[in-house]
Amino acid sequence: MKNEIELNLFEFNENNDLKKNASVYFNKETLIKTLENFEQINNIDRIKKEFLDIIQILNNPKEDRYGIINITNEGDIITYDKSTILNEINTILKSQTIERIHYYIKRLKKSLLEIKTSKINDLNLNQWKTYDNIITDSLWLLEKRDSSGAHNAGYWGNFIPQIPNQFLQRYTKKNEWVLDPFLGSGTTLIECKRLGRNGIGVELQPEVVELAKNNITLETNIFNVKTEILNADSTKLNFKDELKKLNISSVQFLIMHPPYWDIIKFSENPNDLSNADTIDNFLYLLGQVIDNTYDILDYNRYMALVIGDKYSKGEWIPLGFYCMQEVLKREYILKSIIVKNFEETKGKMNQKELWRYRALAGGFYVFKHEYIFLFQKLKK
Ligand SMILES: C[S@@+](CC[C@H](N)C(=O)[O-])C[C@H]1O[C@@H](n2cnc3c(N)ncnc32)[C@H](O)[C@@H]1O
Repeated sequence: MKNEIELNLFEFNENNDLKKNASVYFNKETLIKTLENFEQINNIDRIKKEFLDIIQILNNPKEDRYGIINITNEGDIITYDKSTILNEINTILKSQTIERIHYYIKRLKKSLLEIKTSKINDLNLNQWKTYDNIITDSLWLLEKRDSSGAHNAGYWGNFIPQIPNQFLQRYTKKNEWVLDPFLGSGTTLIECKRLGRNGIGVELQPEVVELAKNNITLETNIFNVKTEILNADSTKLNFKDELKKLNISSVQFLIMHPPYWDIIKFSENPNDLSNADTIDNFLYLLGQVIDNTYDILDYNRYMALVIGDKYSKGEWIPLGFYCMQEVLKREYILKSIIVKNFEETKGKMNQKELWRYRALAGGFYVFKHEYIFLFQKLKK
């Protein structure tokens, strides 16, 4: 015959309870006090019963007899991913000794009390399990673009917002400066606004600058960040002087999404990288932008370069690796090579069959990926 705890544990179905993406708001002070009280309990069954009650409270906050769920917005609030806190409790419920349970309670308390961040982002490493949305693998299979808020897929050749979003979270802190010297429709600066980072964008085409400005204005500026947009040629621009005029001493993250050479012709402007007549000229122009932006990036900080390969007369041109080499000629070290899928769109789906036939007939593979090279500026 099972006892009450075992029966309750049996009822606690992990898969049903661990609903992803739901957030729970705790009153920090009462939660810590409650955990401290639990730490005083030396009976395994009693302590587990208390944690089962917490699960009940999470599922039905009206039963909150401890006052741990912050409904009144008073005091410090701690936001937890529901699945994470349930996982923590589940670990406690599965523990066999009181020492183990006390250890897990201490660990949980520590994650609530201490904030452990690095010099380059605001992620609290004591709550690292809550960052479900942050990718740490080098293969990015993103199903569809984030089209929320000001984001739209209208500009031919824009990148999906998840790219700047991931990097801003990992390689910048709130209120730092981000530079995108190939701004296009403004995706990076929309993400900057959303995540509380200041942003500078440079774009060659005046009409695209207007488009970017309109897009970026649509995003509410909840963190009151600064957004600067320059209509200029990044291969020629003196970034240091421009930053000085704006009263900015340096930037803390660089993100580059240049044309993939001539795959999309962006304009008639000869300084547009998509108009380079040879691969060497394309790499030369990219090299200029890397040089021009080098001095304004702080040491130890990161740069992401988003680029794909191309076919020319039946030959695969490894544009990505050529560009990577161009960066590595400078004082950058390679931190990661990320392979990202091309997500499906309706247009691409219609052409899928045709390309499959062509690939079978022509002995080649259809492009399904692009690269994101991640570099760190370090004295070599
Ligand atoms: C691949 S798109 C960037 C798209 C952008 N990431 C977005 O999400 O909209 C490249 C952009 O670089 C711009 N560009 C090309 N050559 C440039 C140059 N020399 N200086 C500044 N911008 C340039 C093009 O006009 C184009 O808008």
